[in-house]
Amino acid sequence: MRVLTQRIKDLPKIDRPREKMKLQGPDGLTKSELLAIILGSGIKGKNVKKLSEQIIRKFGNNFLDLTVNDLIKVKGIGKIKALQIIAALALVKRFYDERESKESRILFAEDVISLNSDLKNKKKEYLVCLYLNARNVLLKKEVVSIGILDKSIVHPREIFGPAVELRAAGIILVHNHPSGNLAPSKQDIEVVNKIVGAGKIMGINVIDFIIMTDNNFHSFFKNLQQREDELACYVSDDIQYSLFDLLETETSSYIPATKKVHKIYLTPKKRNIAGEFQIQSRRFLGNKYKLLGFIEDIVNEKCNGFESFCDIFAGTGVVGERFNRKNIKIISNDLLFNNYISLKAFLGTTQIDLNFLREKIDLLNNLEPEQDNYFSNHYGNTYFTLENARKINIIREKIEDIAINDDEKSLLITALLYATDKVANTVGHYDAYRKKLDSVQPIQLLMPNIDRGNNYNNKIFKEDANKLIKKISCDVLYIDPPYNSRQYSDAYHLLENLATWEKPLLYGKAKKMDRAHLKSEYCLKIASKVFADLIRNASCKHILVSYNNTGKSKNGRSNARIKDDVMINILKNKGKVEIFERDYKAFTTGKSNTNGHSERVFYCKVRE
Ligand SMILES: C[S@@+](CC[C@H](N)C(=O)[O-])C[C@H]1O[C@@H](n2cnc3c(N)ncnc32)[C@H](O)[C@@H]1O
Repeated sequence: MRVLTQRIKDLPKIDRPREKMKLQGPDGLTKSELLAIILGSGIKGKNVKKLSEQIIRKFGNNFLDLTVNDLIKVKGIGKIKALQIIAALALVKRFYDERESKESRILFAEDVISLNSDLKNKKKEYLVCLYLNARNVLLKKEVVSIGILDKSIVHPREIFGPAVELRAAGIILVHNHPSGNLAPSKQDIEVVNKIVGAGKIMGINVIDFIIMTDNNFHSFFKNLQQREDELACYVSDDIQYSLFDLLETETSSYIPATKKVHKIYLTPKKRNIAGEFQIQSRRFLGNKYKLLGFIEDIVNEKCNGFESFCDIFAGTGVVGERFNRKNIKIISNDLLFNNYISLKAFLGTTQIDLNFLREKIDLLNNLEPEQDNYFSNHYGNTYFTLENARKINIIREKIEDIAINDDEKSLLITALLYATDKVANTVGHYDAYRKKLDSVQPIQLLMPNIDRGNNYNNKIFKEDANKLIKKISCDVLYIDPPYNSRQYSDAYHLLENLATWEKPLLYGKAKKMDRAHLKSEYCLKIASKVFADLIRNASCKHILVSYNNTGKSKNGRSNARIKDDVMINILKNKGKVEIFERDYKAFTTGKSNTNGHSERVFYCKVRE
């Protein structure tokens, strides 16, 4: 007997899956009807609706885990149909996963708090652990202990066991203080140290330990980062932070005795040669010209037989230049282009034809400006006399035409930068100009006093020190970073503008350009962390760090960014530390009270 199967066409329109979906939308369909739409057609003797019902019934709750092989075993499902179904499933799963993971990424302490809001009203102490993957997506949340927190109760096994199972890259611990007191207790600190140490050994980042009360929280991460703002993110440049790195900069253990140096160093006599300028012939905040003897003595005492010297925050370059001699490679670097140009001029390695250079400098000095220009419009009658401002502009313009190569261009621009500084109506930096415009001598370019006879190995860079350090190695690394919150790009914006010569828009009374890209992290609150990163990546035998002891100034901007004990502990991780100290009258902008100021060099003999 022939069994008659109803074809889909024979069903009333309202029951056909496609028609039903048009009318009611996908939510009005059963699972098998939805599947029927993907399948499109049935097989001989079984319409698409029946076929779909059979599949849904057969696989039930395992439907999401189906494979092509499972499906082709069903009569009527060929390879193509099986692939269509699996592709549809995979597509949905993919979107679903991505949405899920975005929703549960734990990037800030505030995310941890909202995930654990139930702890706010608990009467007992809880320790909760969040397990995260490398992107800080939450894998699991688990209560580790209930009751008073004590390092003898909390065993790393309980915390790290699930972390290993889950293949977690990092964990965050949350602990409530029902007492309402936010301050970490002695027990809390012991637990943090124990867990952080264990995490370091296991290669699992302990990202944060948060203490919660009913209305506030304390994050060790935020606190160590010294950040209260939204930038205290647990992941930066795709790298997950760990408290270990931050604690490395904090834990204090010993402060080496300071070696006071009472020797009197006479400022080296300037070889003032008429018509020439030397590397130190400019005003520059924090320059070490007067300390060269002090620094040189330490290098001679400690760094026997060194063959390379890196001045990684070179500024004027006077320190590197002091050691510039045959068989010593000098590596100089600075973030600012105007410093880089002068470093190239004084420490470059190609031979220069001085007569040729003199002719060009004469030519530039004889230019006659006729009208206002970019420089005079912005800086005339304030930083410079109108005539000098106009002339600076036309000289800079002319250099672009006459310099035959990069090296010569650096020399000519350097001559202009030094000459410009001589006639600037300022107290040595360009944060502001003096009210009275009494620098009236006309600008005149001089010849650079350069001796390039001996050294062909030098290298000059214009890079962020923390990036450069990963690419170089040297015997002696000299580090002289900015000490406080004053950005060098603010103080020398005008010279930077003159050197780069892109004629940007200028703002405010001081006529500064946009300097966001020139900001130094050593002037920010994160200076300690950045410094720790520099030292960790340094490949060298000796480290000398110049860091001011400005005392506690009334003017907050003058206070040192890195505390002494932090500096010492960072260096201590690299080797044995000694401190050399010498009294030195600070260069300040006149506003700060810098009693107790002394100049120190932290010396570190790097562990082999
Ligand atoms: C204290 S001054 C160096 C003075 C120098 N030793 C001298 O005697 O002229 C610090 C220098 O570091 C530079 N600087 C600041 N942040 C930097 C960074 N992240 N990388 C490289 N140089 C940086 C500044 O432009 C400035 O010239």
